Amino acid sequence: MVLISGNGSNLQAVIDAINAGRINAEIALVVVNRSNAFGLERAKLAGIPTLIKILKPYKDKGKTRLEYDIDLSHEIIALVGQPTIQILAGFMHILSAEYLNAFTGPVINLHPALPGCFDGARAIERALEAFKAGLIQNTGVMVHFVIPAVDRGEPILQQVILVLRQNVPIYAEDTLQDLEKRIHSIEHELLVEGTIKVLG
Ligand code: GRF
Repeated sequence: MVLISGNGSNLQAVIDAINAGRINAEIALVVVNRSNAFGLERAKLAGIPTLIKILKPYKDKGKTRLEYDIDLSHEIIALVGQPTIQILAGFMHILSAEYLNAFTGPVINLHPALPGCFDGARAIERALEAFKAGLIQNTGVMVHFVIPAVDRGEPILQQVILVLRQNVPIYAEDTLQDLEKRIHSIEHELLVEGTIKVLG
């Protein structure tokens, strides 16, 4: 199962890897939390069932993210049972421990930065800013396991359990588009290799 929020180029990389026989699995469901995500079109074109679930209606009714997460986990299990693996491919939503604890299989996430650097949104842009400020020499991409935060009290920097990581060079003349293009091309391959590694 793959969860996305946007363009879905990483979803497409997984679809293509399955079609090329590199990943011995099928995508039972694509979960999308944005109704206008182009990744929806990619899933439909590939004949993959989709589940669109938006957080905003919950907030509008004064309901919580936790209720959204719990409902989402129930809907997924009702549709496809327990997924062998869940791949967060640009899924812009922090999943709660309640969501993660509803599943038995591994959840992996792709993030366009190195462990401990630039977690959260706009990671690529922030890396370029840090490079131009002379604070870093390069950035990177990682695929890591998503685990329930052990200390739910304080927002801690969740321990990152790595699957794979790869450094990505930044050059002085790089624009944000240059760096994004370089990172996305590396992401697509790293996510496929990370999925293969976790599926064993
Ligand atoms: C990727 O850079 C991913 O790492 C980040 O959002 C982007 C998603 O791209 N979280 P896409 O939707 O897979 O094209």
